[in-house]
Amino acid sequence: MTVSIDEVLAELTLDEKAALTSGSGFWWTHAVERLGIPRIMLADGPHGLRAQPVQGDHVGIGGSLPATCFPTASAIASSWNPALLRSVGEALAQEARACNLSVILGPGINMKRSPLCGRNFEYFSEDPYLAGELAVGIVEGIQSKGVGTSVKHYAANNQETDRLRVDAQVDERSLREIYLPAFERVVTASQPWTVMCSYNKVNGLPASENRWLLTEVLREEWGFDGLVVSDWGAVYHRVPALDAGLDLEMPPKLGRSPQEVMAAVHAGELSEGLLDQRVRTVLELVSRGMHVLELDEEFDADAHHALARRAAAESVVLLQNTDEVLPLPAGASVALIGEFARTPRFQGAGSSQVNPTRVENLVDELSAAHADVRFAAGYGVGDTSNDAGLSDEAVSVARSADVVVIVLGLPGSYESEGFDRTHMRLPANQLDVLSAVAEANPSLVVVLVNGSTVEVDEVSRRAKALVEAWLGGQAAAGGIADVLTGRINPSGRLAETFPHRLEDSSSYLNFPGDSQVVRYGEGLYIGYRGYDKQRQDVAFPFGYGLSYTSFEMRDLAVSVSGDVADGTLTASVSVTVTNTGPVAGAHVVQAYIWDPESSVHRPVRELKGFVRVTLEPEQSTRVQLDLDQRAFSFWSERFGRWVVEAGEFVIEVGHHSRDLPLTATIEIGAPPLRPPLTADSTLHEWAADPIGRELLAEAAAEGAPDPLRDAELVEVVGTMPMSTLAAFGPMAPDYDTLDRLAAQWRERTDNPDPAARAAR
Ligand code: BGC
Repeated sequence: MTVSIDEVLAELTLDEKAALTSGSGFWWTHAVERLGIPRIMLADGPHGLRAQPVQGDHVGIGGSLPATCFPTASAIASSWNPALLRSVGEALAQEARACNLSVILGPGINMKRSPLCGRNFEYFSEDPYLAGELAVGIVEGIQSKGVGTSVKHYAANNQETDRLRVDAQVDERSLREIYLPAFERVVTASQPWTVMCSYNKVNGLPASENRWLLTEVLREEWGFDGLVVSDWGAVYHRVPALDAGLDLEMPPKLGRSPQEVMAAVHAGELSEGLLDQRVRTVLELVSRGMHVLELDEEFDADAHHALARRAAAESVVLLQNTDEVLPLPAGASVALIGEFARTPRFQGAGSSQVNPTRVENLVDELSAAHADVRFAAGYGVGDTSNDAGLSDEAVSVARSADVVVIVLGLPGSYESEGFDRTHMRLPANQLDVLSAVAEANPSLVVVLVNGSTVEVDEVSRRAKALVEAWLGGQAAAGGIADVLTGRINPSGRLAETFPHRLEDSSSYLNFPGDSQVVRYGEGLYIGYRGYDKQRQDVAFPFGYGLSYTSFEMRDLAVSVSGDVADGTLTASVSVTVTNTGPVAGAHVVQAYIWDPESSVHRPVRELKGFVRVTLEPEQSTRVQLDLDQRAFSFWSERFGRWVVEAGEFVIEVGHHSRDLPLTATIEIGAPPLRPPLTADSTLHEWAADPIGRELLAEAAAEGAPDPLRDAELVEVVGTMPMSTLAAFGPMAPDYDTLDRLAAQWRERTDNPDPAARAAR
């Protein structure tokens, strides 16, 4: 565009405007050639590109250009390393530039509400703070190179079952504290070029038509200045969607949507001014992204593969290492078992499926790094007809070696975009081989490849070492070999809890819902928030992960500054970390908070800060984490805002959510919370409020009945509204007096009329 957006807007006809708010093909925006407005391309995402210049589809059926397949989100989230995500983001942007792609459709930052969600492999965590920080890393990495992102799927898209129709019924506090904060963080910190709305309904309205989500929260509260694009096919009613805040429908319903928009303008149902606003946002995106069309660049596939390998190694979580069976001793003979070692599963299926530039396998990579490796397939994936023979062979190879490494995992048919799992078990044929091999040689290392958590109790009982490698991308095998041999010291930490059993997960009773409705009955308590609140034992807790070295933390200090009243409260938490073991390694310092006395229910711990440090043996460092006011707040449904309550807060710092050896209790001062008193407030509420008590006493002095005169009676009738008590005769002031007292209360507390808030 050589002219300004204002000038273009003035020139556009109504049908051009209507067309611009829909795409022109599966991946392209609409071009207006006569005004020099080109089309730009948007394509998947999130852990590698799926650019389909010829034929578009949304589940990866058609071929796409070769691209580096980086570790999937579940994997790379385990790095707890936003800087690594930034580097991967920069590489993704370079690949986008090389194929003239302007916007990458990712990252996916939905919460892992249930272990069963088929797309969990595409999402970071069960914790919104961690997901938000990682999202900032990758978005800033991509956008620093002039390529846009699409943070998805906004919002409450936490299952695949009936994902286009299901109504996610979630209370506002759970949305604000669990399902929205990762979006809020990345929007306010990094202004992604686009946000993708989800398929599902949120509290009765499709996300694409949800004004509260798309306009009030996203734009008005968070200040989003980019474009809202629909998930592919998520627009059900074109005009209401446009009205609610959706700028761009993808892919377009050609021959239908633009016509509907024009008809609505002609009928006076949609103002042209509002349409102009949406068109302006589309033009701004095109103007941001069109420089990519001119580029003639390449990417360095070798360098990106090397980065994918480093990222894969950082994604590995060492869950168990009894008798220090890992790293593999240099002279040991190793039996490497499992079809997945030869035919790796390294990514998930669906719209995120990348056509990789190359793929490593563990047989080759471990053999290259270790002298004596003897392979046996052990089990079949898909075709299991020869399992008995494979198992016998695996047992004899296992007997012949000093150590056994067996790769187990979920076949692609177990988890994917498009459907949810129904259980968390590993395939039975793999568990059979595991038990046969464990009998033959107990010096056993299990490597898991899976996009979402599995039940691991049986595996961990049989294995000495347990290595969670996730779906680690095209270079996963190299990364795993690096960890097994000790070339790289594992530093991954779980971004999601491994429960013992599916039934322990708090969403179990309400997942995936039925009759097109899913109720988020567990509220805030997903992931460790649920397991911790219910004091459930888990297989491996959130934040957990071992290393080939050990770490200690000491000297926790917390200093509080700022003021709740003006939103500047900060708690600076510092702690000394020491590498107390024999080799260099990285550790993640994690800080959680708890408000032991609160007027509302709260989780017993919530992650509010973390930092990853790399230390040589015996090296120490002092790290500082700044927890801001939001870290101490909850979303008050009553007040419709974030609230910090005065009093004690506990800050726990340590190694993972269930090993937090350092604790400090701090006192936070905050303005008192004043739920507005009205005639319908209860006697207890009036009694709990100092000014309420004062007013009742004054009224009593003037001759009105004093409802506080008898403490025992107050206990019995205290939960009744004052207006009800007034009807009981001499138990409370009469209606007129109550109204007068409520008005006086508002004057003295400088509190607006509650009706004013209700009318917002
Ligand atoms: C997925 C999105 C994806 C889009 C385009 C949809 O089905 O939910 O994540 O970006 O297709 O492929």
